[in-house]
Amino acid sequence: MPRLSDTTRRRILYGGDYNPEQWPEETWHEDVRLMRDAGVNSVTLGVFSWAKLEPRPGVHDFGWLDRLMDLMHANGIGVVLATPTSAPPPWLGHLHPDTLPRDEDGRTEWWGGRQHFSHSSTTYRRHAAAITEAMAARYAGHPALTMWHVNNEYCTYDHGDEAATRFRRWLRDRYGTLDALNAAWGTAFWSQGYGDWAEILPARRTHYLKNPTQVLDFRRFTSDMLLECYAAERDIVRRHTPHLPVTTNFMPLWSGQDAWRWAEEEDVVSVDLYPDPRDPLGAQHGALVQDMTRSQARGPWMLMEQAAGPVNWRGANHPKPRGLNRLWSLQAVARGADAVCYFQWRQSRQGAEKFHSGMVSHAGAQGRTYQEVKQLGADLAKLAPHAAGSTVPAGIAVLHDWHSWWAGAQDGRLSTRFDYPDVLRAWHRALWEAHLTTDFAHPEHDLSPYKAVVVPQLYALTDTAVDNLVAYVRGGGTLVCGFLTGVADEDDRVRPGGMDARLRELFGIRTLHEWWPLEADETAACDGFWGSLWSEELEPDGTATETVRYKGGELDGLPAVLRKGRAWYLSTLPEPAALRDLLARVAADAGARPVLDGLPAGVEAVRRGDLLFLLHHGRDPVTVDVPGTHRDLLTDATVTDRLTLGRYGVAVLTEPAS
Ligand code: GAL
Repeated sequence: MPRLSDTTRRRILYGGDYNPEQWPEETWHEDVRLMRDAGVNSVTLGVFSWAKLEPRPGVHDFGWLDRLMDLMHANGIGVVLATPTSAPPPWLGHLHPDTLPRDEDGRTEWWGGRQHFSHSSTTYRRHAAAITEAMAARYAGHPALTMWHVNNEYCTYDHGDEAATRFRRWLRDRYGTLDALNAAWGTAFWSQGYGDWAEILPARRTHYLKNPTQVLDFRRFTSDMLLECYAAERDIVRRHTPHLPVTTNFMPLWSGQDAWRWAEEEDVVSVDLYPDPRDPLGAQHGALVQDMTRSQARGPWMLMEQAAGPVNWRGANHPKPRGLNRLWSLQAVARGADAVCYFQWRQSRQGAEKFHSGMVSHAGAQGRTYQEVKQLGADLAKLAPHAAGSTVPAGIAVLHDWHSWWAGAQDGRLSTRFDYPDVLRAWHRALWEAHLTTDFAHPEHDLSPYKAVVVPQLYALTDTAVDNLVAYVRGGGTLVCGFLTGVADEDDRVRPGGMDARLRELFGIRTLHEWWPLEADETAACDGFWGSLWSEELEPDGTATETVRYKGGELDGLPAVLRKGRAWYLSTLPEPAALRDLLARVAADAGARPVLDGLPAGVEAVRRGDLLFLLHHGRDPVTVDVPGTHRDLLTDATVTDRLTLGRYGVAVLTEPAS
């Protein structure tokens, strides 16, 4: 199987989406000069080029792309070639309205934007395969080609008639019989029993709440249909270039794809990451996405897109203050990225994203953005021989599963005051602030490599997953579970007792009497901290070895936190410092060490291979103790015992000389 290292060859890929069809050819030559000056060694071409490559059905114009591929090759810049299938040309929708997706109200999503394709449309799939085939055949032997990038951010839904037909087929494969489907969906409720497959619809608009298992299966189906589209194009390009890796770019923490499953179908896992420069927890959000992507990749991964400056899709779109682009890019390398790329190379002058930054902004080569891009290129070149290909050790796994997220996100739940990603972020933040490096894992993965496993929230768990957690603890592992875990099975059927009996036994819970959700501004006082979002009325079975209780209110004296040996259950979300301290203590007991002790606030430390990355997320200088003598790869300075990091400063230290 081709791998990322086949393309990087001990370099860090640096570059981004390049959309030269928006520019006259003279500009291409300036682009290439600026790219070389900045150390750009990889560009992604073709992402939105379908109309340019196939201006009329079956009529191709590859001349411009030929010239570009040659230009890139002549300048030593590799090309990640994208199949352009996320933005079909207007003629496709015009000639074949069946290629257009429908929303839950049956309204058509028209061309004029992008991603206006139905994953279920046979006609779309045929045309997507044809342009992919034509590109793959043409460029298979081109020396600039280093990797394939299929489509772009697969994220569409379709509730149309062809989707309905495929949904029924998908359900037949899953359930076999209507009886099994009726049982899984609980259709006895509200007179929903199906007597004919033809009666089943995608999750279209209903008068009141929809059947939650139908919605859950529709999400599973959508993820699978998009994956079929991806796999079809991947198989075409693989046939032509079996030696080249194939990827498609994920959106971070995007609910529409089961990325665990998708990652298995990719040679390279890549992600697009756009933390808000104004978000005080932007760096932690970045770390979370990077940890998750690395875990999906099971090794080095690709930062396919980020912004050199502002995006254009927030309420107010803030630029990155001086140094932040470098800091966040090096954070990605610290957490395992072997590619640092952007959307896009040159900021557009027209079109929907003309106010979205590029590596070359409207200010041009003199602008601060490009100047910083250039500096980063030099930094990456210094790091690459030491960092590329190496791994990031993590002692703790955070469990995450899309199916559980989907099941728990249904309408008609007990609280809409929080969403699953909020909970996931809160737990990852606690570990990040404690300088504990974490992987992510699926609840059915082998957890034995980890000293501790944390479950922020897994509302729905399969029997296999529950058994996996129990076996992990029985085998000596430490497990910390957050509220609303193990409530439902994979059909979203509530487990008897409101929580799986095996888990209740594991945590020392006899009865879960009631869930007590908290209002947005409400807290629950506990011994030593306050909780938010949620609380529970638990009756312990007397086997707990440690209990933290609610104080005051209806739950006064009842357990908020239960520990039974190496298994912990938290029935509320402790305030950030309390969750951090608790997880730090549990991790220490389990033998998972922070990357470095005594780090000042705002400094992140990550080990990658035999390098120690120190990333300062603040603006005032800080001093960091780093016992021993090291070399800072970025400055080539010798560092003995301590160093000072300035505003958004980064140091990448070698192991101390012994
Ligand atoms: C991504 C997308 C890019 C560009 C970017 C803007 O979602 O893949 O094409 O639109 O967002 O932030």
